[in-house]
Amino acid sequence: MTRSNRPFLWGAATSSYQIEGAIHADGRGPSIWDTFCAQDGTIADGTSGDGACDHYHRWPEDLDLLQWMGVDAYRFSIAWPRIQPTGRGPANEAGLDFYSKLVDGLLERGIEPAVTLYHWDLPQALEDEGGWRNRDIVDRFVEYADIVSRRLGDRVGLWITHNEPWCVAHLGHATGEQAPGMKDVGTSLAVAHHVLLSHGAAVPVIRRNVPGASVGITVNLCPAFPASPSVADARATMLFDGFFNRWYLDPLYGRGYPDDKVADYRASGDLPDGPLPFVQDGDLETIAAATDFLGINYYSRAIIRDESAADNEPVTLKSTGVVTDMGWEVHADSLRLLLHRVAEDYSPAAIYITENGAAYPTEPDADGRVRDVERQAYLESHVDAVHAARSEGVPVDGYFAWSLLDNFEWAFGYEKRFGLIHVDYETQKRTPKDSAHWYRERIADDRTLARSTEAS
Ligand code: FCB
Repeated sequence: MTRSNRPFLWGAATSSYQIEGAIHADGRGPSIWDTFCAQDGTIADGTSGDGACDHYHRWPEDLDLLQWMGVDAYRFSIAWPRIQPTGRGPANEAGLDFYSKLVDGLLERGIEPAVTLYHWDLPQALEDEGGWRNRDIVDRFVEYADIVSRRLGDRVGLWITHNEPWCVAHLGHATGEQAPGMKDVGTSLAVAHHVLLSHGAAVPVIRRNVPGASVGITVNLCPAFPASPSVADARATMLFDGFFNRWYLDPLYGRGYPDDKVADYRASGDLPDGPLPFVQDGDLETIAAATDFLGINYYSRAIIRDESAADNEPVTLKSTGVVTDMGWEVHADSLRLLLHRVAEDYSPAAIYITENGAAYPTEPDADGRVRDVERQAYLESHVDAVHAARSEGVPVDGYFAWSLLDNFEWAFGYEKRFGLIHVDYETQKRTPKDSAHWYRERIADDRTLARSTEAS
């Protein structure tokens, strides 16, 4: 089969804590996000995932919306505290049953489930034992992955171990913007290692439980470009790439941690000289477990300027100034370039864009219609970029829009709306935005095109 004949998966994505609500239902234990949200000043609007979209009770309606949109696949995450309320030991059957029903509901509607095991809602009991800072968590994650893949593996073929290790490590443990809110760079690097290690250790377990499974990990990548042709900006850009992208991609693809960034962390005192303190024999081999795909979440590019450089050259590359409600620059061609770069440097077996989308605050007009023209334009340009890369030979086999629903956007609370479907949090009414109508048509057109290409 040539690449362009390989099926392309059109999808939409969500995560458990951002949509489910029902944080006390059916034996769910507390998660680090419940704890984090309860602390003053952590969430912009003072809210939490308690309530959210009430998806835990309204999932049939949400699956109907997915079916109406015509997606091939739905990416959702499992809440670990529903499965193991204290993070260890036998499964809470009621928690497993919820996801089992969800999977059946998807299959009945002809939608392929794509499961993410960890999208940030760690059981608080494990955090109390040191969370991702404590290497023992690797065994806990493998036990959890084993439970879930045994129970759902007869119906779920697509498995994502982790969502965005950079956010867990950096935002959770270096800047403290996300749960558990720690602020120590060295610690964040140990966390990154344990997350990657737990991924690599879980891959063979999922494969054992799910014959024929497609297993991968999702990283968030940010292509970086120097603001000027100066040596200082080139070096700063390289180090940013090491910090954001290569710190994860290099070990996942068998190269260990990038030397340039290791040296930089040593220079800043965030890592000691000598061997990396958190790496043990065999770890790098475990992390580099062969996977079936790489999931990439892409939102924006970065333009890097070394502000500390004396006599830096004048800026030649500036932001277009077109930004989303997050302040993130809209730049679709960077996604195309990123796809080429990842394919060339790492040769993943396949790539899925597991998240891409934009926040805009558009509310329903008087006639009830949500005219989110900017989101539609964002999605259209990025979907085009993905298909351009694919036609240029990059093995990108799927695209999941973030997000199906407006939802709890972590530290930003409910103020940032990423949904293709508008959610009125007072009434829980769902309204497909214009972007959802557009996405539906785009998917249908693509299918028609694929069928006519097959026929000719
Ligand atoms: C990603 C997260 C996702 C969502 C989007 C906007 O970093 O994976 O949960 O918050 O950003």
